[in-house]
Amino acid sequence: MRIIAITAGKGGVGKTTMTANLGVSLVKMGFKTCVLDANFTAPDLAIHFGLVPEATLWDVLEGKEKIENAVYVHDCGLHIVPGSTGVEEFSRDIYKRLKRKMRTLKYDFILLDTPPGLGDDAKAALEPAREVLVVANPEWTSLGNAYKITKVAQGMKKKMAGLVLNRRLAHEYEPSSELIERFLGLPIVGEIPEDVAVRKSISLQNPVAISYPEAPAARGIEKVAAHLGGIDYRAKSGLLHRLISFLGIF
Ligand SMILES: Nc1ncnc2c1ncn2[C@@H]1O[C@H](COP(=O)(O)OP(=O)(O)OP(=O)(O)O)[C@@H](O)[C@H]1O
Ligand SMILES: [Mg+2]
Repeated sequence: MRIIAITAGKGGVGKTTMTANLGVSLVKMGFKTCVLDANFTAPDLAIHFGLVPEATLWDVLEGKEKIENAVYVHDCGLHIVPGSTGVEEFSRDIYKRLKRKMRTLKYDFILLDTPPGLGDDAKAALEPAREVLVVANPEWTSLGNAYKITKVAQGMKKKMAGLVLNRRLAHEYEPSSELIERFLGLPIVGEIPEDVAVRKSISLQNPVAISYPEAPAARGIEKVAAHLGGIDYRAKSGLLHRLISFLGIF
């Protein structure tokens, strides 16, 4: 079972979007996958799926619900454990309890959405995971914080799954991929473009990997999922892809 925390060291760079869509993409590739909202500061993973949960992860950690009752099965086959803001005072014990609970689950992949920033909660949220995937935007404010959380994760002896560069505009003022890799000491495992389909999908409360699977952002995230799953990914390029499939080439 691979347990991967999605982190950033900063708010609003695309952690939840990545968690939701990587989850969907992994399921499409045949992996039994669960996404779990470990962001007790401002949980919003459920919104990406239009879920209004009754039982949440917090109820489970408080011992009020069994974890099975907080697992929601989406039509696409993805399992989702939503979060809630019931936590009044942060304690590291929350994530220790979560780690113990997760040992009872059986999936190919568990993806943990984590809190924003570099506070104690964001650091402690890495604890239940064995691997850490860092998300950043191609600007120095985001990259500086990505560097700090990478150091925290490395200090905790986590396996680094790499960096996803989200909201790439490919403008000349953005730092190059080579520079970013050198700065962070992490390999870039995906570059996701700025894509209005992501925002549309959030309004539809249906992840872009489902609502606009051909959108550039959905394709980019699919590629990251293939990388995580060790699958050879060949980008489907519209007409060309259909022609290749029709002719049975490859
Ligand atoms: N590739 C993209 N293209 C366009 N918009 C995007 C993209 N990725 C994310 N967004 C937008 O950025 C917003 C913030 O993304 P998201 O909620 O996933 O970030 P986050 O890191 O989880 O934030 P928080 O730290 O608050 O939990 C989303 O509401 C979405 O509209
Ligand atoms: Mg989030």
